[in-house]
Amino acid sequence: MRKINIGICGLGTVAGGVVNVWQRNHKILAGRLGQAAEISHIGARRDHPECDTDAYRVSRDIFEVARDPNVHILLELIGGIEPARSLVLEAIDNGKHVVTANKALIAEHGEALLAAAQARGVELRFEAAVAGGIPVIKALTEGFSGNAIESIVGIINGTGNFILTEMREKNRSFAEALADAQRLGYAEADPTFDVEGIDAAQKLTILAALAYGTSLDASHCYTEGISNVSAEDIQHAGEMGYSIKHLGIARASSRGLEMRVHPALIPDDRLIANVHGVLNAVAIHGDAVGPTLLCGAGAGAEPTASAVIADVIDLTHSINCTIEGDKKSTQRGERPGHAAAMRRIMSIEEIDCAYYLRVAAADEPGALSKITQVLSEANISVESLHQKDPLKGAHAHSGETVPVVLTTEVTRESNLRSAVEKIESLAVVRDAVVVLRIESVS
Ligand SMILES: NC(=O)c1ccc[n+]([C@@H]2O[C@H](COP(=O)([O-])OP(=O)(O)OC[C@H]3O[C@@H](n4cnc5c(N)ncnc54)[C@H](OP(=O)(O)O)[C@@H]3O)[C@@H](O)[C@H]2O)c1
Repeated sequence: MRKINIGICGLGTVAGGVVNVWQRNHKILAGRLGQAAEISHIGARRDHPECDTDAYRVSRDIFEVARDPNVHILLELIGGIEPARSLVLEAIDNGKHVVTANKALIAEHGEALLAAAQARGVELRFEAAVAGGIPVIKALTEGFSGNAIESIVGIINGTGNFILTEMREKNRSFAEALADAQRLGYAEADPTFDVEGIDAAQKLTILAALAYGTSLDASHCYTEGISNVSAEDIQHAGEMGYSIKHLGIARASSRGLEMRVHPALIPDDRLIANVHGVLNAVAIHGDAVGPTLLCGAGAGAEPTASAVIADVIDLTHSINCTIEGDKKSTQRGERPGHAAAMRRIMSIEEIDCAYYLRVAAADEPGALSKITQVLSEANISVESLHQKDPLKGAHAHSGETVPVVLTTEVTRESNLRSAVEKIESLAVVRDAVVVLRIESVS
């Protein structure tokens, strides 16, 4: 048995959390490690105000950590693609195991990095890359590894969930809720990644790769953000017993694999509909285990450090094998892009779903029946229909406009889209129809 040395690259939010939790829980961790391990070398351009690094070697060049022959596990915690990709490759090349929290790096270059790690007989772990402190990768690759995974439905972006929660609870507009999120440090100055669903699509891509063996390529995921969700729709949905959440959904069927990120209505009585604020939650449905829900902090220094340290502890157990000369990779889950029977990813037009529609209709006799007639001709059953109070102002052309809110039974999305086009061409309809999907998460 030898001592494992840990090198940390980047000393920002997550790395600071790792150093502090490691120091605070040192005695507890000692009993859980496969062999003795300690932080030995930190690569950081500057010191961290809340971290004591006096006991460690500190280099201003992060690549010195990747080249340090005494480091066995390198933690990539700088974020972004470059130089993170080059750093990870250099560490792997030098025979080091790597732990990263970087979802963008894994979603864009994961396959090449995993292949490089396997060729070198080392491991690449990334629990913290999806849903922060929630051990969802461990759940998929270990706890649920005996199941055929039927679906994964997650609230996997805390910023988006905070904004939608604020809009519902405080009756704020999207712009007001986003400003609150930025003031509180939950959203970046440029929030595009979070609010347009790119971050969630990257995370869903990682989960789907592990559950279904699909390739690590986020461009296969249908992606819609929350910037067009209005307070009006949140209010109407609430009156009908639904919450609007931004979901990442991967669902397998004999027709293929759905991979989609978009806002959706969920019945209020579902557990996941009650996950509010910056919290994340992932509902995994396995054929043997049935429905499950994992919920917790999806970000933050210490919750994310919790996942990073769990990966390190796992490695201190599996590294034993490689030290003894067995170079077999212990990577778990489906190997992304290499499933025995890789599933076809379905286009969004192919999915079957129930829908919420809001139609700005002229306040005149017969308007409602013209709208429902289009749906009936498309064989789309209306589940509920509500005519709201007349709107005045921007959307009122000649005369008053009445918001007609209806929900449909399940239909094919392509069918729904062509019906919506016909509704929008009716003379009694005054604006684009708002369409939101309804998900009844089990
Ligand atoms: N924060 C979270 O809650 C959270 C949750 C889950 C996953 N993650 C992931 O964890 C990773 C780290 O996030 P974070 O929030 O800790 O970011 P952060 O606070 O911005 O920290 C990143 C650190 O890396 C340093 N760095 C960047 N490029 C460098 C380079 N070329 N050389 C040396 N240092 C460099 C930065 O130094 P400077 O300060 O000098 O720029 C900064 O200290 C990201 O991949 C992120 O997506 C974060």
